[in-house]
Amino acid sequence: MQSVPCRPQRSDFVVVANRLPVVGEPTESGEPSWRRSPGGLVTALEPVLRRAQGVWIGWAGECDRRTAPFSHDGMRVHPVSLSARELASYYEGFSNATVWPLFHDTIVPPTLDRGWWQSYVQVNTRFAEAAALAAAPGATVWVHDYQLLLVPAMLRTLRPDVTIGFFLHIPFPPEELFMQLPWWTEIIDGMLGADLVGFQLPRDAENFRRTAAIRGSAIDPPGADAIGRIHVGGRVAWTGAFPVAVDAAGLTTLATSAAVRGRARRIRAELGQPDTVILSVDRLDYTKGIPERLAALDALYKQGRLIPGRHATVQIVTPSRERIPQYRELRRRIEIEVGHINGAYGALGRPAVHYLHRSVGREELAAFLVATDLMLVTPLRDGMNLVAKEYAACHPDADGALILSEFAGAAAELHGAYLVNPYDTDRLASTVDAVLNDPVAQRSRRMDTMHRQVRRHDVHAWARSYLGVLHRARAGRTVLGVS
Ligand code: ADP
Ligand code: F6P
Repeated sequence: MQSVPCRPQRSDFVVVANRLPVVGEPTESGEPSWRRSPGGLVTALEPVLRRAQGVWIGWAGECDRRTAPFSHDGMRVHPVSLSARELASYYEGFSNATVWPLFHDTIVPPTLDRGWWQSYVQVNTRFAEAAALAAAPGATVWVHDYQLLLVPAMLRTLRPDVTIGFFLHIPFPPEELFMQLPWWTEIIDGMLGADLVGFQLPRDAENFRRTAAIRGSAIDPPGADAIGRIHVGGRVAWTGAFPVAVDAAGLTTLATSAAVRGRARRIRAELGQPDTVILSVDRLDYTKGIPERLAALDALYKQGRLIPGRHATVQIVTPSRERIPQYRELRRRIEIEVGHINGAYGALGRPAVHYLHRSVGREELAAFLVATDLMLVTPLRDGMNLVAKEYAACHPDADGALILSEFAGAAAELHGAYLVNPYDTDRLASTVDAVLNDPVAQRSRRMDTMHRQVRRHDVHAWARSYLGVLHRARAGRTVLGVS
């Protein structure tokens, strides 16, 4: 993909996220080579920004390097630099070892560190300043996710003329968890700087409103439009739920292309033409429930309910946050368990679990999804989970089946999925068994429901709905004369 320098023009539509859609990797020439960034945020925002032709502000994944604005594969991006110290304190520290575990039900204990917090404030200030520079007068600035919770209020101080949206891609916890953070009031104030604070699910928005009320704001609960209003310092911040989605039409087109169909057939052949392909695809994260899922597979192979050769299980994990101790430990645990399952139940040329620790390209991923009869998406906690929606988008012929955690945001919409409690490994194993024995017509009905759902509520509908409410919120601000 081509990257060309571009002039830092001001734009009417600015997306601000911790990561750019591409990560720069150092090369011998000194010029970075670019690859797609991991994670659901990029999956969702890339097609939206492409259509809106705005500017994306974010970190390019490198340290101690200033990169000038450039255009990558037709998208204009403004890199924000991080030092190696900030990588450790703002990104790996406060964002991913404090906020991330706290907002995901404290699956691992969050670390509280004042130095990390100070770094988080500093880096958020840098992002707010970059957004203030990139926004044209009266622009719309859309700030994303838990790494940038302070940016909305900071940006409002710098640029009261712009319309500010904020969207949280991960769960917002109940107040008894959130208020463990010594800096919870600063964070609430930061988020309330937005005209619209958007969440994945109504319960996230409710948790937020309850915490804002404890902070002292008056709250108008959601009315017929499902939007709540929070009175804060003479203005009103709107809140609501906007479940994020995927570029379903694009994925369906890709999945039905001759190249992807052909590759899907070859994947099944490479797996030894099993009767059933079972797949999981996750960022390597402790929220994704990978060890629990492997425990269920272990039981299934042990009891002969799955048989290597007849059933091929594939686990693809994309490397993530590899310097954080809990992530390193998780990788070790997963690889020991995969080794154990294969050692105990595999045969020569027929492993029980095919394990890939790498990112795969968009076409290759689509081919895996097409080749799969049963998809296991079993996070312990997940704001949404786009892999589940991608699987549904790739099955327009209504073949395949999805087992989905009831703790993934996607469970609220994918009514055709077989829901499980991912902590209950016995029940997870028996659900795999039950689904494989379900009549084809029933599986097909379920898959068809999910495919239609993800086609109707795609990522463009998500952005339209969010930005539509954001502009209504902004119009309300002007009417009140408090802009
Ligand atoms: P999260 O945002 O926590 O990473 P999501 O499931 O919402 O979780 O989004 C993950 C995104 O990353 C999806 O678009 C998925 O297809 C992609 N992805 C996950 N693992 C891989 C992989 N090994 N190779 C390529 N893409 C991957
Ligand atoms: O919301 C999920 C998310 O945390 C995004 O904010 C992030 O871009 C993605 O997962 C991947 O994580 P990271 O940017 O830490 O590699």
